[in-house]
Amino acid sequence: MSTDPAAEAGPATGTDTGADAEAGPDATGSDTTGRGRVAVIVPAAGKGERLGPGAPKALRELGGFPLLVHAVRTLVTARSVDLVVVAAPPSAEGVAEVQRLLADLPGDTRVVAGGDTRQESVALALATLPEDCDVVLVHDAARALTPVDVVEAVVAAVRDGAGAVIPVLPVADTIKAVDADLVTATVDRSTLRAVQTPQGFTRDILTKAHAAADPTLPATDDAGLVEALGLPVRTVPGHAEAFKITTPFDLVLAEAVLRRRR
Ligand code: CTP
Ligand code: MG
Repeated sequence: MSTDPAAEAGPATGTDTGADAEAGPDATGSDTTGRGRVAVIVPAAGKGERLGPGAPKALRELGGFPLLVHAVRTLVTARSVDLVVVAAPPSAEGVAEVQRLLADLPGDTRVVAGGDTRQESVALALATLPEDCDVVLVHDAARALTPVDVVEAVVAAVRDGAGAVIPVLPVADTIKAVDADLVTATVDRSTLRAVQTPQGFTRDILTKAHAAADPTLPATDDAGLVEALGLPVRTVPGHAEAFKITTPFDLVLAEAVLRRRR
């Protein structure tokens, strides 16, 4: 028995349901038909307060391009993605700037004004999706360097019959619960996963989850809203490079990742 269970536990792959993508409603609560288009909502309306003073985080530069451009460039490259809708910083300047940036990228990209919380930004974009999109991904602009393979794996799992899918990684650190500066418990790390985006959903489930959400208690991810409905959420392997750029240190890390790629 290993003394470091998380090192070998790995994330679940969720590929064992044997579900037929054409099979219609199943035990996962999904009614994916596999015929509609795939839309990706990109919440990019945050201020980036933890990154420090400056422009909204999605518009800050990494290797000469805004974080948002890195993220959307990967999405439009993904073979399975048909449409990208960005929730921009809600000011007139924020929306205009995002429109200008997306005009230089290939693919079907659109812009809506975001909201006061991430949850609200996602809901505003979701309300604008064309009828024929039956799979919806939600992907943080701040996860600018997410590899395209993660995007494809999430879409594939939804097409395979999962109603909600999240990329996850094992937790490397020991995690403890505390009360002020005193430890109250050590959490069993082997059952924990760090959660990334893109998260993928059937449109029906994501719409129901947002309709049922409490806007005064915003969730930090969309799968949390699906869990609140009592519906299953499947995991697929995430990727170290899908980390969220949150602090100045993360930007240094992102620059190093980008240099290694070039
Ligand atoms: N986001 C959004 N609308 C908001 C708040 C956040 O669309 N009202 C987006 C961010 O732009 C980001 C993603 O949600 O792409 C994840 O949020 P986070 O990393 O917390 O970004 P910020 O809210 O910008 O950062 P901070 O919390 O440090 O201010
Ligand atoms: Mg935030």
